[in-house]
Formats: sequence, C-alpha cells, structure tokens
Amino acid sequence: MSALKDKHIILGISGGIAAYKSVSLLRLLRKAGAEVQVVITPHGKEFITPVTLSSLSGNPVVSEFFTANTGEWHSHVDLGLWADAMVIAPATASTIAKMANGVADNMLITTYLSAKEKVFVAPAMDLDMFAHPSTRRNLATLRADGVEIIEPEAGELASGLVGKGRMEEPERIFDVLENYFAEGEHLKGKKILITAGPTYENIDPVRFIGNYSSGKMGFALAGRAASLGAEVVLVAGPVELPVPGSDRIRRIDVVSAAQMMAACEEHFDTADIAILCAAVADYRPAACSDHKIKREGREELTLSLVRNPDIAATLGARKRPGQVVVGFALETDHEIENARAKAARKNMDWIVLNSLRDPEAGFRKDTNKITMICAATGEAVPFPAKSKADVAADILDCIKD
Ligand code: C5P
Repeated sequence: MSALKDKHIILGISGGIAAYKSVSLLRLLRKAGAEVQVVITPHGKEFITPVTLSSLSGNPVVSEFFTANTGEWHSHVDLGLWADAMVIAPATASTIAKMANGVADNMLITTYLSAKEKVFVAPAMDLDMFAHPSTRRNLATLRADGVEIIEPEAGELASGLVGKGRMEEPERIFDVLENYFAEGEHLKGKKILITAGPTYENIDPVRFIGNYSSGKMGFALAGRAASLGAEVVLVAGPVELPVPGSDRIRRIDVVSAAQMMAACEEHFDTADIAILCAAVADYRPAACSDHKIKREGREELTLSLVRNPDIAATLGARKRPGQVVVGFALETDHEIENARAKAARKNMDWIVLNSLRDPEAGFRKDTNKITMICAATGEAVPFPAKSKADVAADILDCIKD
C-alpha cells in the first residue's frame, strides 16, 4: 500500500508548458489513493483545462477567490489546514517569486501562505530564467523557508533550447512525495549534531589559513534531518549559506577548529547522532599576531603551525553505547581501504567516502557521489551522483538502522 493512501495533497499548477505533465502527476497521486485538490493560477488555465483536472481529481478545481455566479468564497485557510502536503508543479519563475515574497494575488499563493505542512516546488522554465540571479535568490528564500525544491532536469526545453529548467518527470515528483510520507518523521525525538564548512585559522587580524569547503553538504544534512523530525545542532564554520528553514535547527557559527571543538564538546553528550562533515584545518598558526604582519624588511616569512584537535577522533573516543558517529573521508587513492582505516582509527560507525577522482564529488559542487561504509560490517555501498539534498537523504537513510 502506498504511503500516500488517504493523504490530502494540494496540487498547485501555474502557467507553464509543463502543466500537461501535472495530469500524469495527478493520476499517479490518485492511483496511490491520495485525495487531491487542484489549485490553478489564471495563467495555468491557459495551458490545461480545469475540466480535465476536476474529472481526474474528483474535486472541483479552485482558481478564483470567489465562484463567479454564486459569490461563494473559497477558503484558502481551510484548504491549507486540510492539506498534508502541497506540491506546486509546474512552478514558474513568477509563481516562485510571488511565493518567496508573499505576493498573494491569486488562490495558489494564498493557499501556499496558509499551508501548514510540507510544501514541494517543481520549477519549470527556460534555462536563462532558471539561471537568473533573481530566480536563484527566490529559490534560496524558499529553501530557507523550509520548502523542498525538486530540482529541474537538464534537457530540451519548450523554447527549443537545451539546458536546466525542464520540470522533473511526474514519476520522480511522485516518488519524492511518496518517500516523504513513507519515511514520516523517523528521526523525531533524536538530537543530531552536525559540523559543516571549513575552519579558518587566523594568522593575524586580516589573514587566515582556510580551505574551499562550502558547507553545502552539512547544511543539506541539517535540512533533511530536521524535515525528518530531528532536533539539529548545526555547528557551522565560516560560510555564507542561509540556515535551512526549520525551527528544529539551532545554528552555532564558529570560525576556528578550536571553537568548533568547544561547540561540539558542549553538545555531543546529549546527541544521539553526530555527523562530522566539516573540513577542519589540521594545523593552525602556533601564534596569531595581534597586529597585521608587514612585509617590509622580510624576503621570507616562516609560519610555524601546530596540530589542531581532531574533533571526530575526540568524539569517537568519548562515544557512549547507542551513540552513532558518522564521518567523511575525501580520498584520492585506495579510497575504500583508506576510508575503512579512518573509520576504525576515529571510532566512527559510518564513513561517507568521496573520491576526488569523481568529477561530481568535491568542494563547492551542488552534487556529490558517495560510498557509504559501515564500520561494523565493512560493507561499502556505492551511490550514483546526486544533488547534495538527495545525498543527505541517502546518508540519513543508511544510518537509521
Ligand atoms: O582525517 P581526515 O581529515 O581525512 O578525516 C575526515 C573526517 O574527520 C571528517 O569527518 C572530518 O569532519 C573529521 N575531522 C575532524 N577534525 C579534524 C579533522 C577531521 O572532525 N581536525
């Protein structure tokens, strides 16, 4: 039986060519036993008729604030309360912008603003529109508000151009929804400590030793863990990322490895799971100059470095029964052997292996390609390249048992 059976789903449709695919999504949802209420924007109706949608959903399609002939008011508040989830597919650039800014000038947006449960958005637009800084900004706002973005695919677009912007296939959108309900909130009541990003080790007041870690993987893990019900403490090195939108995430900003260590020590004992994703600097300057180091009169400058604490190893050594420690390994050769040895050395339960030989893995990318290695069994499970959001889901899924 599908996890979507008897679930109340609002299907929001805005005005894009991909609206024809919403029919397939609607049919899949109905076949799985979900109750579907379609809300369509005025432009959406130019792409697909409400008659098709009402026949397939078994419910009148909502589009206007009032029914024209009776003056009956359609309550977006009731709809929002009724829904177990809302999915907007296709979501045009305009609808995404209105959602991000609360421009409530149609029923779809008012319903979105009243929706209490999870909202999914499947963007569909031309590649230039999708890549535009305005769209990127609006999507980042939605993400920060807790909306899950179902990334569009790269492919042929209605304009004839080829690029990223084609709405994800209905089957895949359906899978995202079904997984959401199947997994429920299996991390509810769990406290998860996550480290993310780089650390900066100060040389003087204006210079530091750092690395290229973007923090994206750790932030994706925090967002996913919170949407699965966990209480997350996200210890973030210096990164620009907005905290994933959830009141279940407490972000602690740190700069150096020593500060990250202190924050982790404070929160580890009460955590059920620690996921150590940060790229912690291995060394720091032995002394940080309190004034800017001048180059005058020096042909060479030698910095003396001292070892930083290994956060993963320290927490691993302190682990009590039942606690789970997950680490990362970025390797260039003999990847699996090296990663297994690292997990053993640091007393980790799982290690997430990235290989620098994979073009989809590594710093600053939006994708990642991992192999999950279980310390207890030694088993190594490879995954294909995916978005970091999907990789986060796989990691949390692996460690749950
Ligand atoms: O030994 P290596 O740096 O490859 O180990 C990587 C793993 O150890 C990652 O999970 C990383 O977050 C963690 N680590 C740490 N503190 C350090 C160095 C690495 O927590 N000082």
